[in-house]
Amino acid sequence: MILSTFLATSAIMSSLALGAADHWIVTQLQTLTISRMDPIVNPNDVSGHVHRVVGASNFNWHLNDPQTQLDAACSSTIIGDDKSNYWAPQLYYRHPNNTFTPVLGGVRVYYFNKNKDVKPFPPGLNMISGLAMKRDLKATQSLGVKISCDHGLQTQWLPNGTSHPGGCGSISMGIYFPSCGLANGATSSSDHFSHMAWPQSYNGPNLVDDPNGIVCPASHPIKYPTIFAEFNYYLDADHPWRNDECTLVLSNGDCTGNNFHADFVNGWVPQTLKDAISQCGYGKGVGDKLDACAPLKKTKSEPKSWECRLDGKIPDEEVGLWRPISKLPGCNPLWKSGVSQKPDCASTSKPGYVFPNAYFENLKFRNKIPVALGELKDDADITKFFPSVGDNGAGRLGWWGSEGSNKDQLTKGTWQAIINSLAPGTNPPAIGNMYTKPDGGEETVEPQGQDSSSEDESTPTETHEVPKEGSTPPPVLAAQPIDDDAETTSPASTPVEAEGAESTSAKYCKRKKRGLIPRAGEVLSSHLSRRSRRRSIHG
Ligand SMILES: *[C@@H]1O[C@H](CO)[C@@H](O)[C@H](O)[C@H]1NC(C)=O
Ligand SMILES: *[C@@H]1O[C@H](CO)[C@@H](O)[C@H](O)[C@H]1NC(C)=O
Repeated sequence: MILSTFLATSAIMSSLALGAADHWIVTQLQTLTISRMDPIVNPNDVSGHVHRVVGASNFNWHLNDPQTQLDAACSSTIIGDDKSNYWAPQLYYRHPNNTFTPVLGGVRVYYFNKNKDVKPFPPGLNMISGLAMKRDLKATQSLGVKISCDHGLQTQWLPNGTSHPGGCGSISMGIYFPSCGLANGATSSSDHFSHMAWPQSYNGPNLVDDPNGIVCPASHPIKYPTIFAEFNYYLDADHPWRNDECTLVLSNGDCTGNNFHADFVNGWVPQTLKDAISQCGYGKGVGDKLDACAPLKKTKSEPKSWECRLDGKIPDEEVGLWRPISKLPGCNPLWKSGVSQKPDCASTSKPGYVFPNAYFENLKFRNKIPVALGELKDDADITKFFPSVGDNGAGRLGWWGSEGSNKDQLTKGTWQAIINSLAPGTNPPAIGNMYTKPDGGEETVEPQGQDSSSEDESTPTETHEVPKEGSTPPPVLAAQPIDDDAETTSPASTPVEAEGAESTSAKYCKRKKRGLIPRAGEVLSSHLSRRSRRRSIHG
């Protein structure tokens, strides 16, 4: 408590001293994959838990060399020249019957330039913020974790039934990355953290660590931009708030949020990042008005980010996108509050890598996330499977490689053909753990929601924060991204601000839903309610 007040004071002071024009915001980053890949921590392997990944299309099970990273066919950020990858543990929803579904949402990334000497990241720089395997809120690695409910107070905790008995509609899993580098320009370190350090701000006469601070300590003198990555998640009628413990759980089993962490690999085209810092950096920040920043505007394209697809293989296992899964992938039993040690498991299977054969699409968040589903054999099959996430029929499956700008690099075909086509010379772990459909099982996921026609999809954009009844709005740190969110109401012409999409039900969310405008030419059959689709299939 004392510490946060103390940091709040220093943050307010730095904000007053420097003004707000110190950052740009990249909005609407699309999810490339939700899978167990982590090229920093588990190179050439399957990672311990599921990550949600955005950015360069050639994200892989090993780190790309800097030039390969830049050669990615596309980026799922709206800035084509940002071929970086950003990833974090996926947030899961635990159903009352102890099955799990990934929660959907958007991602936004802030770049703060809080002094005039900010330098661009060196090629290949990679780092982790936060702790994945142990709980230690006082550890320096945990300083950047900023989680909030409905864009309220930022803490190191997932909202839970005690802290938020009235519920949350949106959960923002935010994290600052350290932004001070070693004098020798080191791009990594064995713990993936110590080549970096937190910047500092003045608290009175004293400099203290501040994730969004202004100056660097002598040990790590080079100031890079401060990245704040915000992985946003939205509950809905099929995934309503409950006050039970572990309704929300990170993919590593953590029910508290204390183990939130995120990874970054720099893939910015060097000249673009350099120009953006000098033209739209300290004192010249443009917020989310990226068209006002020539170096960013140059390759800005929302359609291209929506069309960007993962290029490679994914672990051959279900992550919950088309039906709830009975356990979190990997060895990740629920890790409850008050349990200091991460619980272990008797045994875990490790999937091999395969090319995806289908994608999960959610119209609300525009995600087209590759999946490997052995059950899907032909075109009749693919319409039979109703994804378990995405409210009221707004989700569907499609054949992988059948859409997308980089489809030449994707694989379409029968399951066996896809397996047979694994590129020679690559070194994935052995293929195993292939899902085989049990005999005679009816695979249809039961519908839970109502017809989508009951939703008002034309509600105008509305981002005004309505404080909860009966609670004093908590103090919010000045100079924190929360302020920017309020400023950045998307104009009516913006097709959809995925990060801001809200549930309609006042029970889940106190704020109004933003407009949902399906992309032009989108096959709207996927808007059919699951109920009517099921009727047509069973009837
Ligand atoms: C568990 O609940 C979810 C959500 O209601 C449902 O989709 C799923 O079929 C249920 N699973 C089992 C095994 O009952
Ligand atoms: C709920 O969150 C609060 C912090 O907001 C934390 O102190 C408490 O331990 C959490 N409870 C559980 C059961 O996780």
